[in-house]
Amino acid sequence: MIQAKIAEILDSNQFLQEFEVKGWVRSFRSNRFIAMNDGSTINNLQCVVDFENFNEELLKRVTVGAAIRVLGTLIESEGSQQRVEIEVKELEILGDANPEDVKLTILSPKRHSLEKLREQAHLRVRTNTFGAVMRVRSKLSFAVHSYFQQNNFHYVNTPIITGSDAEGAGEMFKVTAFDIENPPKKEDGSIDYKKDFFGKETNLTVSGQLEAETYALGLGQVYTFGPTFRAENSNTSRHLAEFWMIEPEVAFCDLDGNMDLAEDFIKYVLKYVLENCKDDLAFLEQRLLNEDKSKPQNERSDMNLMEKLHFVLDNNFKRVSYTEAIEILKNSKPNKKKKFNYVIEDWGADLQSEHERFLVEKHFKCPVILFDYPANIKAFYMRLNEDGKTVRAMDILFPGIGEIVGGSQREERLDVLQSKMKELDIDEKELWWYLETRKFGTCVHSGFGLGFERLVQFVTGMGNIRDVIPFPRTPQNAEF
Ligand code: 4AD
Ligand code: MG
Repeated sequence: MIQAKIAEILDSNQFLQEFEVKGWVRSFRSNRFIAMNDGSTINNLQCVVDFENFNEELLKRVTVGAAIRVLGTLIESEGSQQRVEIEVKELEILGDANPEDVKLTILSPKRHSLEKLREQAHLRVRTNTFGAVMRVRSKLSFAVHSYFQQNNFHYVNTPIITGSDAEGAGEMFKVTAFDIENPPKKEDGSIDYKKDFFGKETNLTVSGQLEAETYALGLGQVYTFGPTFRAENSNTSRHLAEFWMIEPEVAFCDLDGNMDLAEDFIKYVLKYVLENCKDDLAFLEQRLLNEDKSKPQNERSDMNLMEKLHFVLDNNFKRVSYTEAIEILKNSKPNKKKKFNYVIEDWGADLQSEHERFLVEKHFKCPVILFDYPANIKAFYMRLNEDGKTVRAMDILFPGIGEIVGGSQREERLDVLQSKMKELDIDEKELWWYLETRKFGTCVHSGFGLGFERLVQFVTGMGNIRDVIPFPRTPQNAEF
């Protein structure tokens, strides 16, 4: 007897071999055919029971959602739906699922909306769609590590609790051990953070970049892959309050090298999932085709999922300066006809997602890397160009997703960095350690951050970022 996962059994040619497998009932047809799934693959295992030889009471308990153990022999299937099946010798109910109760949940075998599935996030992974998305997510995160490990990057774990606001956007969740109803106060009435757990104000990190920079300036090339937190009140299909970010940081690398790295990295992970998640991607592609059928013709996508992934893989990302992009946008139809919510008037405007999507989906029709943004719409740490008004920043924009990567070459010149911080009123005392790296062997270095969930969205074709992370954290929602 071999204990096996369904994925292995479905690939096996060991006919007449006995297998033991545990999983959950997806359906039970004609008192004979159990479709069972154990999470190892999108595909179910057909287990055939000779009902005459089994206790009737036992068979009644083979209901949708129940956990079961099956022991039986592998045979070729006569059905057209599957190559192999298990002829059941032993059947055991490990955990019942009362059909009356199941009916009230998303486990009941009918179509449920993604919104409904979100309300039952503890059960949704048992559906085909979420099983597929979460397996792809897992494979993608493995691919992230293997890319960097193969390329001699070191994995660093930057702190989750920190005193600094790396992005300077002030969108932070505070961390405190105070009784918030009654925190200690100073004489002037303000809160006395000296008495708090860390002796200072702290927050959940918005980015591990600043700490990662210090490590790159010693280990050479590093990457982080961890959760980050943003208290931005953005209720969109692309924003989470808790998301995972991958942040490589490379010493002696300029912005061009940074763009090359990002493009190579993204292509590697796409290739990896195309090779290793075939069944799940095929299922997700079909799901999208079905979803498209209910949409009007002009909203349907012109490429299916696999074509989209191959398209990104096979084409160079288009590299365009911010200044060029503004010219394109200024002269674009939607801008002239005032179709954009934010009409682009002058150089210096911050780009909204409608502009990014126009550039990627309508104008260039391929992933775009925008670079050399105006200094005053970007973070303090980005390297100032010779023109004195743009910085060596880059954003990578993807079809359907918008910004997937944000990165830059870092300001390595102490005096320039200090004057920028002064200009933005950033306290040097808070970032004394960051500034010291510019005193001791400073060097050209660059890095970027890729939003992992946006990558999973792109790969799986899921429209809402809440559906690519197990338990999404968004404004007004921290259930589970
Ligand atoms: O552009 P951002 O804010 O860049 C940084 O945090 C830099 N410190 C990165 C670096 O240079 N090391 O964020 C990087 C990426 C975005 O491009 C986006 O993909 C993702 O993180 N992101 C979010 N994903 C989900 N929900 C949110 N609220 C996100 N905010 C940013
Ligand atoms: Mg950004």
